[in-house]
Amino acid sequence: MTLPPTAFSPADLTTFLDTATTAALAAGAIQLARTDLLHEVRAKSTFSDLVTEVDALCEAEIRRIILAAYPAHAVLGEEEGQAGEGEYLWIVDPLDGTVNYARGYPVYCASVALEVRGVRVVGAVYDPSRRELFTASLGSGAFLNGARIQPSTTPRLQSPALISTGFPYSVADDASNLTYLGKLLALGVPVRRPGAAALDLCNVACGRMDGYWELGLKRWDSAAGSLIIEEAGGVVSDMDGLPTPYGPGIVAANPALHPELLTVLSGGVLGSSVRGSPDQPR
Ligand code: IPD
Ligand code: CA
Ligand code: CA
Repeated sequence: MTLPPTAFSPADLTTFLDTATTAALAAGAIQLARTDLLHEVRAKSTFSDLVTEVDALCEAEIRRIILAAYPAHAVLGEEEGQAGEGEYLWIVDPLDGTVNYARGYPVYCASVALEVRGVRVVGAVYDPSRRELFTASLGSGAFLNGARIQPSTTPRLQSPALISTGFPYSVADDASNLTYLGKLLALGVPVRRPGAAALDLCNVACGRMDGYWELGLKRWDSAAGSLIIEEAGGVVSDMDGLPTPYGPGIVAANPALHPELLTVLSGGVLGSSVRGSPDQPR
């Protein structure tokens, strides 16, 4: 990973990460405090694309914290869009997993990242239900509640690997992810759909999941979590294998598994030795 052309010291990165962490923790506290309340829920792009009053409250608090520390920086948030321009851009998903949250299903988080001239330099993802804070800064590794994390070492899809995915709110109009899901299920691979993309990425980073893919994510879904995976030692690409978290699709996995996951999703088939056969001894 190349450093952004703007000069800043490790101390700057630490200060950026402190701000990202403070903001994510503050949003998580709001989420947790309001978890049992009756929410104001409305639909956005489709009937299933929900937003609550908590999404807005969290984004306002995250913006307040970021702009108090860095008044000249730009902020892109899911609910309010982008304010400001310049080489420093904070990318915020104030509540990732809103559909889960609105139903009291405890899989949701806040996600805050900073990009400098398009390079992700810090990321923080906070899951208040589990009191888990995932953090990373460029070149310094990834951490869960302060302890260094790394991806799993599961080598093959049929080891077996545990894989997660998600579906965009437009799934009724574009069912292409069902094709990918079908490919993995046809191989007998266990697949989960937890419902919060940032946590899906963090769970790959810490080895609970071996891999993850999804189509149609937005930058706020993947900015922090993808840096956390990369800093943990995992691999993030688009569906063509290009090393970006911002393609039309994202594929993330431990380094041993990533090539095979990519091959299967992009149309390749597993070799017969991997695929196995009913009469092979176990
Ligand atoms: C959604 C979640 C979900 C993913 C969707 C996202 P939101 O974000 O991350 O897991 O499948 O693509 O839009 O709307 O809860 O912030
Ligand atoms: Ca999201
Ligand atoms: Ca959101």
